[in-house]
Amino acid sequence: MRILSVVGARPQFVKLAPIAKAMEGHAEHVIVHTGQHYDELMSDVFFRDLAIPEPDYNLAVGSGKHGAQTGAMLAGLEKVFEDAAPDVVLVYGDTNSTLAAAVAAVKIHIPVAHLEAGLRSFNRRMPEEHNRVLTDHASDLLLSPSQVGMDHLAVEGLADKSVLVGDVMTDVLYAVRDKVAAEHLPLPEGLNAGEYYVCTIHRPDNTDDPARLGAIVDALATLDKPVLLLAHPRLRALAEKHGIDLNAGSLTASAPLAYPELVNAVANSAGMVTDSGGLQKEAFLLRVPCTTIRAETEWVETVELGWNVLVNSDLSELATAVQRPTPAPTDATPYGDGHAAQRTVDALLEAFGG
Ligand code: UD1
Repeated sequence: MRILSVVGARPQFVKLAPIAKAMEGHAEHVIVHTGQHYDELMSDVFFRDLAIPEPDYNLAVGSGKHGAQTGAMLAGLEKVFEDAAPDVVLVYGDTNSTLAAAVAAVKIHIPVAHLEAGLRSFNRRMPEEHNRVLTDHASDLLLSPSQVGMDHLAVEGLADKSVLVGDVMTDVLYAVRDKVAAEHLPLPEGLNAGEYYVCTIHRPDNTDDPARLGAIVDALATLDKPVLLLAHPRLRALAEKHGIDLNAGSLTASAPLAYPELVNAVANSAGMVTDSGGLQKEAFLLRVPCTTIRAETEWVETVELGWNVLVNSDLSELATAVQRPTPAPTDATPYGDGHAAQRTVDALLEAFGG
């Protein structure tokens, strides 16, 4: 059986790692990189550090407006799918690469499986929300990371196609956490364990309006501990354009970290401040308190269990939220047990292998 994975953006490389490993010896695995992310630190380091096989195809689509970027991928992927003739196309998460791959496959009658199905923010301003909803409804098999995801799929009439496999990011995170602890990876320069926060900001709703971005940076700059700001290229470009200083007060801007360094930095921090989906969950799994600069989250379990607090319109609440006491301990495992990749491959073989 031939399974073709399509990835393109940073979080998808992380999800691909355990899947590629679980696939070995069970199915032929073709990997396609759309080229949505292309910088060394946004792409190559993930393949290297997580020992992911080189992609068989790279479309080198690059950055662009949503329609142009998604359209270029769609055209490129159609050719690749015709050439590789997979039994099923596996798509990951909620980026423009996910949607393009799902649409390209269904148009030429190749079955689609969606990993990380059923997540909803119910915020239609987010490009990721359209990407998720459209991909779920185009897919033949929905592989969900959580019971909450399964419930959303059932409400939308998709229960028959849905399987609860757990979250493959849990698989990677546990493996990398143990590895970096055993290797005593050093912390980023100048930081001491438990005495700093890690921060990422990259959502268009937070970066694109200069007044909003300026207010977020001002609030971060006044926090009571150093803030390691891992700056996505979009954040750097927009801050520079609008004259916003990413090194003000408590803030120190640094390039994005490779995955093991990121896990090490978060695990040893006093808290995470982010608008990333993946990092909210990773902070929870590492039991590091998280504050999310968004009005809502797809990872509602992190909030319900007390490890994530949302701050959005009133940024004067940010310091109180970030500096709150450590939440009550929990041994809940809403995102699986670290064996989601194996379950995913089993589900794919069962659905499309015969
Ligand atoms: C994309 C995903 C988002 C995901 C994020 C992870 C969509 C709609 N969004 O957002 O869901 O959370 O990836 O990081 O698919 N850029 C570079 N180098 C790169 C990549 C991007 O400089 O390697 C810059 C470009 O200026 C580009 C901008 O970042 O225009 C945004 O990149 P893009 O891939 O469009 O979206 P992300 O914000 O990264």
